[in-house]
Amino acid sequence: MYEIPVIPGDGIGPEIINEGKKVIESAAATENFNVEWKEYPYGAEHYLETGETLPESALKELSQYDAIYMGSVGDPRVEPGVLEKGILLKLRFYFDQYVNLRPVKLLPGVECPLREPGNIDFTVIRENTEDFYVGVGGRAKKGKTKNTLEIERKLYNLKFDLDIESDSDEIAYQLGVISEEGAKRVTKYAFDHAQKRKDDRVTAVDKANVLSDIYGFWRQKIEEISEEYPEIEHEFNYVDAATMWFVKNPEWYQTIVTPNMFGDIITDLGAMIQGGLGLAPGGNINPEGTSMFEPIHGSAPKHAGENKVNPIATIWAGALLLDHLGEQKAKKRIVKAISQVLEEGKIKTYDLGGNASTTKMGDAIAERVKNV
Ligand code: IPM
Ligand code: MN
Repeated sequence: MYEIPVIPGDGIGPEIINEGKKVIESAAATENFNVEWKEYPYGAEHYLETGETLPESALKELSQYDAIYMGSVGDPRVEPGVLEKGILLKLRFYFDQYVNLRPVKLLPGVECPLREPGNIDFTVIRENTEDFYVGVGGRAKKGKTKNTLEIERKLYNLKFDLDIESDSDEIAYQLGVISEEGAKRVTKYAFDHAQKRKDDRVTAVDKANVLSDIYGFWRQKIEEISEEYPEIEHEFNYVDAATMWFVKNPEWYQTIVTPNMFGDIITDLGAMIQGGLGLAPGGNINPEGTSMFEPIHGSAPKHAGENKVNPIATIWAGALLLDHLGEQKAKKRIVKAISQVLEEGKIKTYDLGGNASTTKMGDAIAERVKNV
């Protein structure tokens, strides 16, 4: 028996998570294990009523579990960032979920915006707790320096002098941070992942030509870890070039490892080449702690309550969750069921060019899971 905490969240979150639960229950019944859900109310509604995003008491409770199932957060009634930082990023950081695993796989039957897509099947391992997401930044204090450009030059030359004064507050800064431990653990995870998948190559994506302090260091750590995996090749791509190759030759990629912010950006592009955000799942993983599985898309408030959006990203995230719990057979069933339903093409949500509802798609996959 697995007890799984669920945070459906905002917008379309509750609708897609319902389908995810339905499919997990179907896979569990077929593979003879049980799942029980523990629902948590965190999201916009709860915040507007109580002023709290995710209390410490909930975090403590959640820390007893191996995996959280998450819908999506974000609501136009709440200032952007409050729920994202207060719930989603809070969970990632509090539980030190340092791996954000995002498969990019073009399934059969799915239309790809690329003309000749070839076999797109790779994983982005996005570092998930460092880089520009650490939340270190600020605005200049009111003081004597007159010219904001002068401050920028100061920031550039005196790298660690952040005690900036300005007679206007027209300058702001944000720091990115990479630690040795942070870079090494995610790189190790990526090479292990490549080994498991029998990949022959890991591609590290960064911007070491310009942000050479932070990403030069990152590269160095990748070089160091790569020595422990002599049978796996590694290469470096600059992130701007990588976005070009995603479009031109996506079949080249196998396992990618990349810092947090570039990982955020390239996985939205990855989602598009695998058929859209409605199909892209993600796992926020701490191999020794509490992990969290979610679609990579947001809460799409304009479609909330319409029973219209594609639940596959969330269903697929559910499969990754089961895999994490050690239920590989159940995971395989779900991924196969998704592939078959997509390949047959009879049931399509609006994003896939059809008009099937969220529940209809969920029902079809839950049913198919029983005999794949
Ligand atoms: C994602 C999202 C989040 C991120 C936001 C909502 C904080 O875009 O999971 O990719 O930037 O990581
Ligand atoms: Mn994103």
